Amino acid sequence: MIIGDEPSCNIYLRRMRIVDVIARKRDGHALSREEIDRFVAGVTDGSVPDYQASALLMAIVIRGMSDEETAWLTDAMVRSGERVDLSDIPGVKVGKHSTGGVGDKVSIVLAPLAAACGVVFPKMSGRGLGHTGGTLDKLQAIPGFRVDLGIDEFKRVVREVGTSIIGQSASLAPADKKLYALRDVTATIESIPLISASIMSKKLAEGCNALLLDVKCGDGAFMKTQESARALAASMVAIGTHAGVRTEAFITDMEVPLGRAIGNSIELVECFDTLRGRGPGDLEAVARRFASRMVVLAGLEREREAADVRVDAALSSGRAIQTLAKLVEAQGGNPRVLDDAALLPHVAEREVYRAARSGFIGAMRAEALGRASNLLGAGRTTVNDSIDHAVGVMVLAKPGDEVREDQPLLELHHRGGRGVEAALRMCHDAVTIVDAPPPARLKVIAEVR
Ligand code: URA
Repeated sequence: MIIGDEPSCNIYLRRMRIVDVIARKRDGHALSREEIDRFVAGVTDGSVPDYQASALLMAIVIRGMSDEETAWLTDAMVRSGERVDLSDIPGVKVGKHSTGGVGDKVSIVLAPLAAACGVVFPKMSGRGLGHTGGTLDKLQAIPGFRVDLGIDEFKRVVREVGTSIIGQSASLAPADKKLYALRDVTATIESIPLISASIMSKKLAEGCNALLLDVKCGDGAFMKTQESARALAASMVAIGTHAGVRTEAFITDMEVPLGRAIGNSIELVECFDTLRGRGPGDLEAVARRFASRMVVLAGLEREREAADVRVDAALSSGRAIQTLAKLVEAQGGNPRVLDDAALLPHVAEREVYRAARSGFIGAMRAEALGRASNLLGAGRTTVNDSIDHAVGVMVLAKPGDEVREDQPLLELHHRGGRGVEAALRMCHDAVTIVDAPPPARLKVIAEVR
């Protein structure tokens, strides 16, 4: 680890009045690098009170920030804490981040798949919040699996396995932690500069040389429209590039849950199936596309075709699933779960949601289904809630499928009926049945480089 330099020692910066910085942004001016440094340093050391920080955040939400201001904000947030030094691990270190979705288990398939292709993939992940799931929660369904490795152990696993997935250290970008908590309660989350600086400060502090972003778009995502998803992707790619990290983004569909499982244990089983070539087509397609691009970002192949061949070989040879077994074992988990799902937390009780009429599935809205799974206990509403790894929702029919009246469309895995009534109401909100099949949706909507 190396400690960030300390711009706030500068006397000029200490004399700068935050009230003047707020007024300048309120009046639509671009902030200077020094003003942004002063603000972030003051938030980090507590010398800028919450009311002033909140006022400036609101001024940024309303007035926006240029790409340059956003890059400076990100850089100041990175320097508010530690940065992981991965330079003693050979090879190009490629990171990945998803803006979050429902049934988004891509990282758990991608980590072993990319590593089996030769990519060095250190991954720090988050927990689920709101209707979206979190990679850490899913992995913690594996008995013994540790996500709290220290940085030295994390690096040892990356060296041995090619990948490791752990929780984000609190010492990375602490300014973001404070700002995010304020934004959450001051209606200042919805701002592309603030979201991109928040995400990118944490990712850049992780110390990778290249970064592939998954910007989810649609009903179950932060970004509901393609326009906003493209703007967020472009902003984050610009920040990464400005910081000297080769950064690219895919915009992927999150109108419908990815794959068929929404929960924790049940999503893991879907990941194991996908690594064995028996998973849902949409999940496999997204994971293959990301792995292939990571092979190129790692400099292992120049062209997509050659990278695709590597990905194919990693899957068909069984190396990808073997790499997951190694990863699980290296982080203290029981690798036998890959062959015996009964070793994962599970429940026997089921309730089904049935088609109200015959026709075609027109919509299977991701957000309502994410909420249904949470109502059963699979997610949390506040960071301190505990979750039930065993429960969740299985999607039995996807948009475009022809269904008969009374056919089971969703299967609720529940514990003693907890949340079932409310979850069934959510299922009702999620599903639309129409007379003709809707147009097929692209899973990977666009690339931003
Ligand atoms: N995720 C983050 O880490 N930050 C945001 O501002 C939004 C989503």
